[in-house]
Amino acid sequence: MKDFDVLVVGELNVDIILDNIKAFPEIGKEIIAEDLTVTLGSSSAIFASNLSSLEINVAFLGKIGNDSFANLINETLIRKNVNTDFVITSPQYKTGLTIVMNYDMDRANVTFPGAMDYLGEDEVTDKVLSKAKHLHVSSVFLQKKLKKDIVKLFQRAKKMGLSTSMDPQWDPEEKWELSLAELLPYIDVFLPNATEFKHLTNCTDIKSGIEKVKRYANTIVIKDGEHGAHLWEQGELTSKPAFLNTHVADCIGAGDSFDAGFISEYIKGKPNLYCLEIGNITGAINTTASGGTTAFKNFETIKDIAKSKFSYHF
Ligand SMILES: Nc1ncnc2c1ncn2[C@@H]1O[C@H](COP(=O)(O)OP(=O)(O)O)[C@@H](O)[C@H]1O
Ligand SMILES: [Mg+2]
Repeated sequence: MKDFDVLVVGELNVDIILDNIKAFPEIGKEIIAEDLTVTLGSSSAIFASNLSSLEINVAFLGKIGNDSFANLINETLIRKNVNTDFVITSPQYKTGLTIVMNYDMDRANVTFPGAMDYLGEDEVTDKVLSKAKHLHVSSVFLQKKLKKDIVKLFQRAKKMGLSTSMDPQWDPEEKWELSLAELLPYIDVFLPNATEFKHLTNCTDIKSGIEKVKRYANTIVIKDGEHGAHLWEQGELTSKPAFLNTHVADCIGAGDSFDAGFISEYIKGKPNLYCLEIGNITGAINTTASGGTTAFKNFETIKDIAKSKFSYHF
């Protein structure tokens, strides 16, 4: 018996969100924001929290500093029933932080990666890996040190018998340097969104991207916003439409909630097409409330929203 269903290795940061700022910030000037939210950011944490709300037993491994932001992160994860025993506190670094400035429907973000830049592959020890059935890594481009040895981490996990998944997320440097040929053989489910997949494969459409990587890929799931999601497995590309939400609160975390839904069923051994459907419903549920975790209080709420807003029965 393993202690955890899923070990999430990922970035941890706090979001400071300034809402309804009166004008766009300008150098040398000061402007007022109408509202302020300080909350746990990071897509890995949204994934872990929502997976936990789907009644999966989740542990998190990431790196934070020894400051008040670190406390906020730990407390929030624990409140979401995510185990934080493997979260590494490094006093020499500061906890990562994103300042989000919401202006009209648009936003400007500034991120200080801090501690998350310094998580090493060797810190995800065999001892920790042995406690979980499944390893999920997210946001590899935000974790520079981890990225250098990411293939090694997945190789070790596979060797130890874990199933594996990865959501690469956006590359802020837009270089998209990730050797899929080396990496994908060790990843059971690869979960980029459509834009990320095209950048990573250097292709203008999904089909030619698949052609490029199919020799070494296992299952690829491509999230496609309002169009739903695509599944490539055993030589076949299938798509499922979104549970379209026409009253979107916002789309923050939709991809992470999709991942949580997909993986929650994948680890139970359900067929990938069913996992895709569950990903689409949890992605849609995400868009019904602001932020990435608001709609995922617990499994009862999730089921209620699925039923009332999308006529979907879990
Ligand atoms: N307007 C929407 N209505 C319903 N579902 C949506 C909507 N936008 C996104 N989703 C769901 O969320 C998933 C992830 O969204 P997407 O924007 O593709 O990912 P990411 O957040 O990683 O960019 C989609 O595959 C889809 O299932
Ligand atoms: Mg995403």
